[in-house]
Amino acid sequence: MSYNTQKKQVIAVVGAGPGIGEAVARRFVKEGFAVALLARTEDKLRTMQQGIESDFGNGTARYYITDLRVEKDVISSFASIRSELGPVNVLVYNAGARRVNGRSILNTTTEEFENFTKINLHGAFWSSKCVLPDMLAAGKGTIIFTGATGSLRGSPGLSSFSPGKFGLRSLAQIITREYQSKGIHGAHIVIDGPVDGKLIGGVTRRKWEREGEKAKLEEADSFIMQPHDLAQVYWYLHTQPRSAWTQELDVRAQKESMFSKL
Ligand SMILES: NC(=O)c1ccc[n+]([C@@H]2O[C@H](COP(=O)([O-])OP(=O)(O)OC[C@H]3O[C@@H](n4cnc5c(N)ncnc54)[C@H](OP(=O)(O)O)[C@@H]3O)[C@@H](O)[C@H]2O)c1
Repeated sequence: MSYNTQKKQVIAVVGAGPGIGEAVARRFVKEGFAVALLARTEDKLRTMQQGIESDFGNGTARYYITDLRVEKDVISSFASIRSELGPVNVLVYNAGARRVNGRSILNTTTEEFENFTKINLHGAFWSSKCVLPDMLAAGKGTIIFTGATGSLRGSPGLSSFSPGKFGLRSLAQIITREYQSKGIHGAHIVIDGPVDGKLIGGVTRRKWEREGEKAKLEEADSFIMQPHDLAQVYWYLHTQPRSAWTQELDVRAQKESMFSKL
């Protein structure tokens, strides 16, 4: 059954949480897309879908419960998206996970390494394989991967995060080299610093509150990236004319100090 009766273009936001994921979903829906939201937690997904539909109309969002560490889950969700919404025009692979307090290699288990790497890398490989055939048949499509500072630099404690993110960056380059000439715009965004989402943004704001950093709280957007501003970058990449496609760009807040670490 089709839920996309108006035959809107379709974006799949893979790793749809309340931060970048939802902001990107809303940015594209505002421009006339229908969005497929993929993540594991049904109540969060339902709330997100309801919020988007209440702001933009019925049929603009649909969620698909998916564990991106499991290939058959990914394949089955994309099959449902295809039959319920139609072929995916834009894939944003946004899922990414890491331990908040890093551990050295010797204290990192194989299970942890595999678990995070599956989210950070394998899920993107499987998702890309699901959408590429329809994009190639259409002769166009956009695939954007969300990276991090750890995509470019290995730092102590991040052995279960950074290798997957490095791999994701490489996969974005390979997609570009293999499929750009066939109309696919592949891009990788290095998010170089903290995002003002529920988790990291919340931790950062609470720390500022504890430390009495009033100025920082008042000017949060100059220190931590705002999801709706980042969403603008995804939209910009998608709408670039084909004579000027970006393969990779980096973004950081005005006062972010990570830049020196790149
Ligand atoms: N937040 C930051 O400060 C920051 C900084 C630099 C880079 N980044 C990058 O930004 C991306 C995330 O953006 P965000 O932090 O704003 O998060 P977000 O969009 O709010 O949420 C991402 C969602 O991914 C989902 N996810 C995680 N593991 C999954 C799995 N195994 N299967 C399905 N879904 C899964 C989670 O939902 P469920 O738990 O419900 O599955 C989570 O809510 C990541 O690629 C991260 O590396 C973030």
